[in-house]
Amino acid sequence: MRRLAILTGGGDAPGLNAVIRAAVKTVQSIPDCEILGIRDGFDGLVDPGGVERLMADSVRGILPRGGTILGTANRGNPFARRVIRQGTEVIEDVSDRVVDSIRALQLDALIVVGGDGTLRISQELYEKGCPIVGVPKTIDNDVGGTDVTFGFDTAVNVAMDALDRLHTTAEAHHRVMVLELMGHDAGFIALEAGIAGGADVILIPEIPFRLEVLSAKVEERARGGRPFSLVAASEGARPKGGEQTYARPADDVYFARLGGVGDLVARSIAQTGGVETRVTVLGHLQRGGSPTAFDRWLATRFGAAAVRLALEGGFGRMVALRGPEVVDVSLAEALAAPKRVAVNGEAVQTARNLGIALGD
Ligand code: F6P
Repeated sequence: MRRLAILTGGGDAPGLNAVIRAAVKTVQSIPDCEILGIRDGFDGLVDPGGVERLMADSVRGILPRGGTILGTANRGNPFARRVIRQGTEVIEDVSDRVVDSIRALQLDALIVVGGDGTLRISQELYEKGCPIVGVPKTIDNDVGGTDVTFGFDTAVNVAMDALDRLHTTAEAHHRVMVLELMGHDAGFIALEAGIAGGADVILIPEIPFRLEVLSAKVEERARGGRPFSLVAASEGARPKGGEQTYARPADDVYFARLGGVGDLVARSIAQTGGVETRVTVLGHLQRGGSPTAFDRWLATRFGAAAVRLALEGGFGRMVALRGPEVVDVSLAEALAAPKRVAVNGEAVQTARNLGIALGD
C-alpha cells in the first residue's frame, strides 16, 4: 500500500478544492494507494487530530466550492510557530514534529498546495528529508516557475466585475472611483483586471507612481468631456521615492498587511483637482467564492499531476504550467525569484498603447 497525504497552506485561493478532489480521484484510480488529508496546513502535522483519510465521499460536490475542505493556516510556519509557554508568547521551531509525523504516518509523499511562503517551508522540509511535492496556488500569481497559478483568474474576474460596476456609478456622478486590489508585491491582478475593466489609471508595485501624473490624467479626461475616471490600484503600489502603505506592520510570524494606497491616491486627486473621489477596497472578495472554469481546469490538472509526480518520487519538485503543458520544476528553481509584472513587457505596453496612465 502506498500512502500519500495532501495539505493546503497560506491564504486560500479559488480552486483549492478542485486540486484536492483531483488528487483523491486520481489516487482512487490507482491500485493499493490511499491519500490522507492534513487539516489546517502544517498545523495538522504538529497538533493531534489533524489527519483524516480522504475517500470519494469526502470530495463529492466540492468542485465549485471556494475555500478548502482541509482548512488552511496563514501563521502555520512550523519553523517559526507562535506558542504560549508559561503564559508568555514565544516563537518555536517545531519542524522536527512535522518530520516525525510524516514518518509516523508512513507517508510515501506529502503534496503541499501553497503560495511562495508555504512552498518555501516545503523546500526547507524537503531539505530535512521530507518527501514533498508542491502545487502552486495564489490569487497574486507571483510564484516563479509556472506561467500562472490557479486562483488568479477568478480574482481577476471578480476585480473586473467590480470595475464594471464602479464604471456606471462613476459616470453617473462624475466622480473618480478608486478600486484597491490585492496582489501583494505583484501587480498582475490590477494590471489584467484594469485592462479588462477599462480602467483609466492602473497602479502596480513594479511601477512607482507620481501623484501629479494621476491628477493630470483625471483632468485630461475631464477636459475631453469625460468628467469621471476609474483607478485600479494594486495594494502594493507606492509613490516614487516613497513607501508602500500598510494596514498593519509585520511581526515575528506574519508579514506586514498592505492596505491604504487607495485612500492615499483618492485624497490626492480630490485635493489637487477638487474632484469628488470614492474608494472601494475589494479585499477578500477576490479570494472567496466559486472558481472560474479556467481555475477549476488548471487546479484539476495540477492535482492529478501532483499525484503522478509523487508516485514517481519527484520530491522537492512542483507541478507547473508552461505554455499548454503541465510540467514539473524544482522548488528551488520556482523559489529562486518571485514572479513580477515585466515593466517593459507586452501587457504593460498594451496598457500604454490604450492611453492608460500607469503613474510614471
Ligand atoms: O497572497 C494572497 C493575499 O490575498 C494577498 O493578495 C494579500 O496581500 C494577502 O493575501 C492578505 O492576507 P490576509 O488574508 O492574511 O489578510
